[in-house]
Amino acid sequence: MTLPVAIAGLGAYLPANVVTNDDLAEVLDTSDEWIRTRTGIRQRHIAAADEATSDLAAAAGKAALADAGLGIEDVSAIIVATTTPDHPVPGTAPLTAAALGSEAAAFDVNAACTGFIYGLRVGGAMAATGDQAVLVIGAETLTRITDPDERSTRVLFGDGAGAAVLVPDDTASLGPFDLGADGSDPSMLWTAAGGTRTPVTPDVLDAGGNYLSMRGGDVYRNAVARMAGAARHVLEEAGLGVDDVDLFVGHQANIRILDAVGTRLSMPKERTHVTVDQHANTSAASIPLALEDARNAGRLTPGATVLLAGFGAGLTWGACLLTWQPTGGGDGASV
Ligand code: UT7
Repeated sequence: MTLPVAIAGLGAYLPANVVTNDDLAEVLDTSDEWIRTRTGIRQRHIAAADEATSDLAAAAGKAALADAGLGIEDVSAIIVATTTPDHPVPGTAPLTAAALGSEAAAFDVNAACTGFIYGLRVGGAMAATGDQAVLVIGAETLTRITDPDERSTRVLFGDGAGAAVLVPDDTASLGPFDLGADGSDPSMLWTAAGGTRTPVTPDVLDAGGNYLSMRGGDVYRNAVARMAGAARHVLEEAGLGVDDVDLFVGHQANIRILDAVGTRLSMPKERTHVTVDQHANTSAASIPLALEDARNAGRLTPGATVLLAGFGAGLTWGACLLTWQPTGGGDGASV
C-alpha cells in the first residue's frame, strides 16, 4: 500500500556546539580510535544549556516549511517523533507548534529511533485523507539523558532535529511501509526510571536510573536483523529488488550496523548514505537529518527510489520506500 503523498520540503537543525571524539577522550576513559573503529562516529552536536527538544524541532520545522515554500498557516498537523520530550507532560509537539505560531493538531510519536518512520506513516495517512500539509519532525536531545560518566553510552549519542513537510499529491507515492514492535524485553535499551513503573526518587537518582542504559551487543544484533527484515518486506511488497534502490538511508546508530544491514541486503556500500560520522546517533532525528543531508549532497535525483529503515528502543523497527521527484512546490524536491 502506498500513500498519494509528496514530501514538499526538508529541514534540519543541528546545535552549534560540536564535540569531537578527542574532546570526549579528555574527560572519559576512551579514545578517538575506539569510537571510530567501533561506531564510525567522529563528532556529535550538543544542545546548548537553554535548548530543549522543542527548540530543535521548531528550528527544523521552520527550515522545512521555508524549503517547501509554505507558511505555518498551511499546516494542519504537527507530529514530533521524540523519545526525549521537553517534559513528561505535556507532549513536545504542542510546544513546537506554539513556537512556530500554530494552533493546529499537535502530538508526539514515541517509537524511539524508529519514530520518524512511524511519524511518516501516521502523518502520511493524515495528509492523504485530505488534510493540508502535515509537518513530521524527528527531534532529540539525547545528551540530556545520557550518563556523563558512562563511556559506553555517552560517546554514542548526539542532539539534533530533522523535518519533512508532507502534502497530498495524487501523482506521488509514499510507501509501502513495514512497521513492527516487540516490547517483551524493554530493558535491552531503556531509561529505567522517571515513568509510572519506577518514579524518580533520591535513591533512583543515586543509582543513575534516570539515564539511558542498554545491552549494546543485543541491540546491535536485533538492529541488523530487524532493519534488514523490514527493508526486505517493503521491497517484496513493492515488487522491487535491491538493484531498484538508488539510495538507502538507514538509522544512523553505528556504521557497522549500516554495513551489516547492507551486506544482508546485498546493497552496494556506495548506495548507503552515511551521516553517523558527523551526527552520531540522534535517534528519531537521524533519518530526516540524513535525508536532508543526502538531498543537499545531490544524492536525491528526480525519480530516485529511496529506502528508509530504522530500529530503536521498544523494540521498534520499520522501513518504507519513497520515490523522489520535484513538485515545483518550493526550492526542495519531493516524493
Ligand atoms: O539506536 C539504537 C541505540 N543503540 C545502538 O545502536 C547501540 C548498538 N550497539 C553498538 O553499537 C555496539 O554494541 C557498541 C558500540 C555499543 C559497543 O561495541 P562492541 O564492539 O559491542 O563493544 P563491547 O560492548 O563488546 O565492548 C568492548 C570493550 C569493553 O571492554 P572489555 O569488557 O572488553 O574490557 C568495554 O568496556 O570496550 C569497552 N568500552 C569502551 N572502551 C573505550 C565500551 N565503551 C568504550 C568507550 N571507549 N567509549
